[in-house]
Amino acid sequence: MEQYIIKGGNSLAGEVEITGAKNAALAILAASTMTDDTVIIENMPDEADTNILLATMNEIGVFTHRTGRHTVRVNAAKARDMVIDNDALKKIRASYYLIGAMLGKFKHARVVLPGGCAIGLRPVDQHMKGFSALGAECRIEHGYIVAEARELHGAHIYLDVVSVGATINIMMAATLAQGQTIIENAAKEPHVVDLANFLNSMGARIKGAGTDVIRIRGVERLHGTEYAIIPDQIEAGTFMMASAITRGDITVRGVIPKHLESISAKLKEMGCEIHEEDDAVRVICKERLKSTHVKTLPYPGFPTDMQPQITVALGLASGVSIVTESIFENRFKYIDELVSMGANIKVEGSTAIISGEEKYTGAHIVAPDLRAGAALVLAGLVADGFTTIDNIRFIERGYEDFYVKLQTLGARIERVEDERSGQKFRLKYA
Ligand code: EPZ
Repeated sequence: MEQYIIKGGNSLAGEVEITGAKNAALAILAASTMTDDTVIIENMPDEADTNILLATMNEIGVFTHRTGRHTVRVNAAKARDMVIDNDALKKIRASYYLIGAMLGKFKHARVVLPGGCAIGLRPVDQHMKGFSALGAECRIEHGYIVAEARELHGAHIYLDVVSVGATINIMMAATLAQGQTIIENAAKEPHVVDLANFLNSMGARIKGAGTDVIRIRGVERLHGTEYAIIPDQIEAGTFMMASAITRGDITVRGVIPKHLESISAKLKEMGCEIHEEDDAVRVICKERLKSTHVKTLPYPGFPTDMQPQITVALGLASGVSIVTESIFENRFKYIDELVSMGANIKVEGSTAIISGEEKYTGAHIVAPDLRAGAALVLAGLVADGFTTIDNIRFIERGYEDFYVKLQTLGARIERVEDERSGQKFRLKYA
């Protein structure tokens, strides 16, 4: 079984190029099926989630071809509006984006209920509320979401909770509805804005993305486009946190600093130096981190997808820190693994109370989900001794070349397939 094995103790230093944003790429891939023209998408990350969605699109007759590692050509002219029940698709949350796209284009869709990280209940009631408001009949049956409509008409939709997925799905379906749709209490994440820009480049008429009121004027059809995806602010934030945890000096390159503002602000509170350039952020940490308090919030607040990473850093800070997870109800599962490495953390409901320790010690741990898995790698980078991490396929869902990028920054980390290569690594760094 594949594992990461890490020998902790090195400070990381150097530059790392950030790839395209996974959560923008997944929405944009789904939206690319809404035209019969060819679409060229650049800065497409090469990681499990996007590759699973590409494979699923092939299965419903969409032509996709990676013309380069990070460039994809898509043509959905021959797409069949059929049931989407690819087993692999159950593993990724973004499967449900195909519903908004198919409903918009074919006026019906039947997609297997989404999978994704086990960080909470992950309901889809707000998606269904939006589709129904647009005139679709929505139901869940036999493990699928089914949505069908004679026609789609604009509506004034007020989301009961700020939902990235629901905002994205409703925006896609409304793009080809008749009349104007207004989405109130919309999510403002950079990937919501990226999708709106992508759809507008295809002839959609979307205004207000990035604010909590998005207005969409329906159009008859969408045309082809060439588009480059924004950089992944969570990948960038993860490497910024790696610099803080290992008392390093890392520059994340190819980023949009504005998307990283809440992460940079917290790192400054924790005692790091932050230097911003047009498309890069440098994080320098010269001494022990200071404690702070964090509450995850919808963008532009501190992102929930960075909560495990900052908790790992605060586990070594001087003093007591408090991290409150306000988005998902079960996103502290990794704490037990971190406690086995010496962390002193108590979880009370949606709050983690963290008493900073001097060090972590290496252990054999299991990645419970994508972002917690990446956070546990960061803990291994700074722990005394060896750390072995199982279930790394979770991590490779959303990070391209993760361990290779860490190696280039000076980390002693290897991806091993069996006990023998693990032993070889241990002997090399004994
Ligand atoms: C997206 O998930 C991301 N996934 C998640 O990233 C991210 O953590 C999340 O947004 C929040 O930013 C993708 O983009 C593929 P939500 P999503 O709908 O859309 C509740 C990662 O690590 N809710 O914004 O599923 C829900 O329970 C992943 O890349 C409803 O109640 O998140 C949650 O409490 C992990 N009803 C809150 O809203 C609904 O119909 C936010 O969820 C939908 C959501």
